Amino acid sequence: MRTKLLLSVIAGSAFVYLQACNNNKQEEFPKHVTYNEHIANIIYNNCTICHRTNGGAHIPLTNYAEVKKFGGPMVFLTKERMMPPWPADPHYTEFKGQRVLSERDIKLIEEWVKQGMEEGPADKQVKIPEYPNGSLAGKPDIRIPVMPYFLPANKTDKFLLVKVPYELPIDTFAALIEFVPGRQKIVHHVNGDLVKYDFTKKQTTKGGLMIVDMAEDTSNLVQAYKKLDIPNDDGTYPVLQKSVVNYLPGADGQIYPSGIGGYVLPRKGAFLLNDLHYGFTWKEDITDSSYINIFFAKKPPERPLQEFQLGTLGVAPVEPDMVILPDQQKKVFSKFTIGEDISVLTINPHMHLLGKSFKAYAIKPGGDTIRLISIPKWDFNWQYFYTFKKMVKIPAHSTIYAEGVYDNTRQNLNNPFSPPQIITDQNGSMKATDEMFQFIVSYLKYKEGDENVSLE
Ligand code: HEC
Repeated sequence: MRTKLLLSVIAGSAFVYLQACNNNKQEEFPKHVTYNEHIANIIYNNCTICHRTNGGAHIPLTNYAEVKKFGGPMVFLTKERMMPPWPADPHYTEFKGQRVLSERDIKLIEEWVKQGMEEGPADKQVKIPEYPNGSLAGKPDIRIPVMPYFLPANKTDKFLLVKVPYELPIDTFAALIEFVPGRQKIVHHVNGDLVKYDFTKKQTTKGGLMIVDMAEDTSNLVQAYKKLDIPNDDGTYPVLQKSVVNYLPGADGQIYPSGIGGYVLPRKGAFLLNDLHYGFTWKEDITDSSYINIFFAKKPPERPLQEFQLGTLGVAPVEPDMVILPDQQKKVFSKFTIGEDISVLTINPHMHLLGKSFKAYAIKPGGDTIRLISIPKWDFNWQYFYTFKKMVKIPAHSTIYAEGVYDNTRQNLNNPFSPPQIITDQNGSMKATDEMFQFIVSYLKYKEGDENVSLE
């Protein structure tokens, strides 16, 4: 349970006491808030992973002077819970690596700014931790370059479909496949699949285009796949293993304990980055050279991850249809009943710019609810793959529900059209201006005791 806040201002004293309900520990709220004593730790543990030279954000927050410069906006952004970005409601469900400030932290930042942002005693200075650069997982066995991409300084986001072919000496196994951005400041997110070819059906993986820009290209997904030469030579489709390589700044969710996950890698294949989102650049032209790290495994995956998705292009349709009229707010859902006991590790809700809120849960055959995720305020920029702290067992014959609300009114500041237009899901177009409703579930077949295995 999260620490609940009980503010009780004792009469005649400016002291405020905080009570942590779970352990009954009383911690005094300081009268005099300083950077070195109270603020540095909050920033270094919750902000600096992104706010540093090699992080995802533009402004650095790595020392007193830098943090002081942004004191005012920080109070607002932390109170509104816009920073650190974590759209999932931590009161509904908690996840591995979640970055959520406590009420106390937020209050400390506010007080610090109110009191004039003092640095505090030098002997209380906190040493800034070392943050990982490049790989979050160590030294990979091989590194496969993604084709460099040139972004002119023209203030437009890019949504790309990218093919990354690879060749290995033999068929093998991978424990982990990791996307590493070249320029962290502009790589917003990546969601990539593995295309597994049967080489009696495919001569080469290097034909076709390597990159299709989904915004310039009006083609639907099937046409885009053709341009990238994804199909087999006879026009049939190879096996596509979903979501093997994903990336979002500051998130390392999908590194699982050994024995869980892992992939069979054919000697030749390709990664298909379904959605490589580059934020815009306005000061300078940028060429991004990202890469994919592969960490081999000696053995075949003991418990390979499986995945299904509800909604657009998934195992269960969006209901009612994904047609959102101008000036309309619309609620849709998708539901799917599972046939066997499963252990859920990671979930990923997905909508585009009209998304307003998202919720998913499972109803057990007896009627009990298993909470999965609630996102009260959808944020297109922060679409995490949320990994639970421990696996969540969902018993056979439960029904998983995903519900989404879309806002196609003028009040939605992210509405890409003014005036609002009719919006549909266009058969799974990934253009940000079309809509999608998806809920991706990564799971294992349930094994006794799974619910006690920590994923942290
Ligand atoms: C997961 C990455 C991430 C984390 C963690 C994070 N931020 Fe941010 N922050 C961003 C991004 C991205 C932006 C958008 C602007 C940019 O690119 O710099 C931003 C913007 C900001 C801004 C506005 C800057 C401006 O231009 O006015 C402030 C202030 C800020 N963050 C403070 C914080 C604070 C304080 C924390 C921790 C309590 C935090 N951030 C945690 C990624 C992050």
